[in-house]
Amino acid sequence: MQVGTNKCALFALDSRARLRTMPALPSCEHGAKPPMPIDVERARRDTPATEKVLHFNNAGAALMPTEVVHAQLRYLQLEADTGGYEAAAAEDDRIEAIYDSIARLLNADRAEIALVENATTAWDMAFYSIGFAPGDRILVAEAEYLSNQIAFQQVARRTGAVIDVVPSDEAGEFDVEALERMIDRRVKLIAVTHVPSNGGLVNPVAAVGRIARAHGILYLLDACQSVGQLPIDVAAIGCDMLSATGRKYLRGPRGTGFLYVRRGVLDRLEPPFLDLQSATWVAPDRYEMRPDARRFENWERNVAAQLGLGVAVDYALGWGLADIAGRIEALAAELRRRLAEIPGVSVRDRGRRLCGIVTFTVEGKAPRDIVAALRQQRINSHPSAPSSTLLVAPARRLPALVRASVHYYNSEDEVARFAAAIAALA
Ligand SMILES: Cc1ncc(COP(=O)(O)O)c(C=O)c1O
Repeated sequence: MQVGTNKCALFALDSRARLRTMPALPSCEHGAKPPMPIDVERARRDTPATEKVLHFNNAGAALMPTEVVHAQLRYLQLEADTGGYEAAAAEDDRIEAIYDSIARLLNADRAEIALVENATTAWDMAFYSIGFAPGDRILVAEAEYLSNQIAFQQVARRTGAVIDVVPSDEAGEFDVEALERMIDRRVKLIAVTHVPSNGGLVNPVAAVGRIARAHGILYLLDACQSVGQLPIDVAAIGCDMLSATGRKYLRGPRGTGFLYVRRGVLDRLEPPFLDLQSATWVAPDRYEMRPDARRFENWERNVAAQLGLGVAVDYALGWGLADIAGRIEALAAELRRRLAEIPGVSVRDRGRRLCGIVTFTVEGKAPRDIVAALRQQRINSHPSAPSSTLLVAPARRLPALVRASVHYYNSEDEVARFAAAIAALA
């Protein structure tokens, strides 16, 4: 992909599936303008750690901006000074505003948002809420996140539901045409990971949504790597449930996550466990579930971290998600270009549309050793093992990979330095 290309046009040309079915374009879903340049100097000033490390592990956990750190420290101090319950009561408005911020980020309603500890809990709360019966089919992506794959198997074993893997197309994307051919009356759920954690790919999730809606099938989207990196509009995507984490591209604190559940499907879902947050004990032998998405929450929480998450969401919205996506995509494309020029280095990403996750191998070198050698130079990256992608890795004969994931606050100079460091190790 070309740096500086008009993104809306580029995505339109880039996705065969989208052209075929004329879905909304993810980065242009709000009728948005082409991305504007990000003020990288300001972004780096807001992120003092950029002076200390070259951080290309944003798909692991991104660097938090100062505002996010300060929001947490301030609240922790308030807790220390006044007591935990008293601090929460005093900050109730701020806590409630977190739901508004996340709703705005996703183009959802605040009543459709639940705050939980991480993306896995969010996804599990949605998935384990679905009542599967023997013979029900669950259609899943090949590159579905490994924890999701484990959960599919457990639920299939317990309930007699059947897992059917939707193949990838020749570009490596979730094959929307194959999905359409696989639909029958027994399909209860379609589960897709928007951006798999180890391959740079962006799956055509709005095209999937149109099929799910047309057939009245529940659609669960794992958006753990895409929220904060790409504009997300749940109405345009057409998903019923979406899970996300705070610490990755949103740049929030660790131990935060959230779930979106479309209002229209809430009553079809029974959370796998309930407590005093998700339900009210209304008579000695009766409880009532909350009417909104908070029925997927539990009561005790790290309020400081959740407030930090709210600030991180507002901070991302302040930059604009289309602009963030444009910058990330351009930097990642430049990184792939530079890496591909190094003898012995193979860039492994596949897909029509690629994102900020860049994966590669260096001939004769173990990814772990490369990551460790880079770490010694204060360069952060991450190894990715084939054992986390037991369907994709054998099909594509993928070995272990190095994953370098860029964010908008990374600089062109860092891309050049990273490539030079790899060239020296190759
Ligand atoms: C695609 C995807 N889904 C889910 C998760 C799990 O997120 P969390 O660790 O916040 O539970 C990850 C984490 O790497 C991921 O990459």
